[in-house]
Parts: sequence; C-alpha cells; structure tokens
Amino acid sequence: MKKLVVAIDGPAGAGKSTVAQLAAKKLGYTYIDTGAMYRAVAWKVLQQGGEVTDEKILSVVPTIDVDLSYENGQTTVRVDGRDVTGEIRTPEVSHIVSQVAALGPVREKMVDLQRRMATRGGVLMDGRDIATNVLPDADVKIYLTASIEERAQRRYKELCEKGLAVNLADIRRDIAARDKADMEREISPLVKADDATLLDTTGLTIDEVVAKILEMAGEKA
Ligand code: DC
Repeated sequence: MKKLVVAIDGPAGAGKSTVAQLAAKKLGYTYIDTGAMYRAVAWKVLQQGGEVTDEKILSVVPTIDVDLSYENGQTTVRVDGRDVTGEIRTPEVSHIVSQVAALGPVREKMVDLQRRMATRGGVLMDGRDIATNVLPDADVKIYLTASIEERAQRRYKELCEKGLAVNLADIRRDIAARDKADMEREISPLVKADDATLLDTTGLTIDEVVAKILEMAGEKA
C-alpha cells in the first residue's frame, strides 16, 4: 500500500495531537508533532530567564538542537540532548509560544527539519501551516477545528489530569489569544488550505474523529 503523507492543521486545542497519534498508530505511520518543536524553542527561551524579547528568542535559534523522535507510539522531544517532553506543555510555554513561532528564523529552521522528516512518506504531521506551507503536496489534507468552548474544556481537562492548578477562564483567554496570533501573523499564518477537508470535531468523540481520518487516508492509499 502507498505510504501517504497526511497533513493536519487547526487551532489550539482542536484535538490534533490526540487524534493524529491514534490515527498514525492505526496506519503504522510516524507521527510528527510540529507544535512540540516550537514549544521546544519556547522552553529554551524561558530557561534564559528574564523578559521574553524577540532578540532573546532569535539568539537561541542558531545553536538550538531540537530533536523529535517517535517510538512505540510515543513522541520524545529533546533540546540540546535533554528530554523536555513533559516540560513543554506548561501554561508558561503556551503563553509565549505564539511569539516564538511568529519569527521567520525560528520557522525556517523548524520547517527545514519537518520537511526532512517527511521525505520517506508514511507520516502524519500536525501543526498550523503543514498543508499550506510545509508539505503542500501532502496526499491528505485535513483542517481540524472545534468551538472555542469545547477546545478550552478539553485543554482544561488535560492539564487538570496532569495535576496542574489551572483556571478554565484563563485557558479560554490564552487559546483565543493564540488563535488570533497564529491566524494573523505575517509568516505562514494558520489558515485552511483550499484543498483541505474541514473536520469540525465539536460534539464528536475521539474515536469518531480518528475513523474519519482513516477513511480519508483509505480513499487515497
Ligand atoms: O499545537 P501546539 O499548541 O502545541 O502549538 C504550539 C504553538 O506553535 C502554536 O500556538 C502555534 C505554533 N505552531 C506553528 O506556528 N506552526 C506549526 N506548524 C505548529 C505550531
């Protein structure tokens, strides 16, 4: 069977990583979480301490080594050799990641890595600009979204389950701010590709969304 390239884009909290991971497992594909790569850069910026400025972000880009590996259904993110998988999902990282991801040199470095990871096919990559910019020739393009209320609820539940003390109103505000920043930035903004299929997951279960993705992939294989 043909080894496809599947691109999934959408706003924060749409459930991309959850469903993409499950779909990749069923297909026997590699899952590439590009948001984790921008989070890795943001994590390193926070390690520098002090105010987060564009200059500070740009200063880490030339030397940062971001490594994303996917084994046995698990993504591991390393920054300069250190496993930061658990540390990149904090509200602190979420708060600054859109600023980090808006900068050209950051995107150039990450997009180059992402394209190299997809060259052999059999990959499912999720992010904001995968179908429009990173992999415009992807075999399957999906734009996954859900209402902001549902997205905030999902993120809230996920963070609570991790034992983090979070507030639903703060999460909703943060998601709305990230949507705005990601959709309005100059370089590769979040937008549905003309040839992407819109999949609104509001009210759908994880299994239902995964089944739809597998159906779309099955039609192209
Ligand atoms: O999917 P996520 O929430 O982990 O993504 C974190 C941030 O990274 C998101 O606010 C926007 C940015 N991002 C991006 O600009 N381009 C991508 N391909 C993936 C994520």
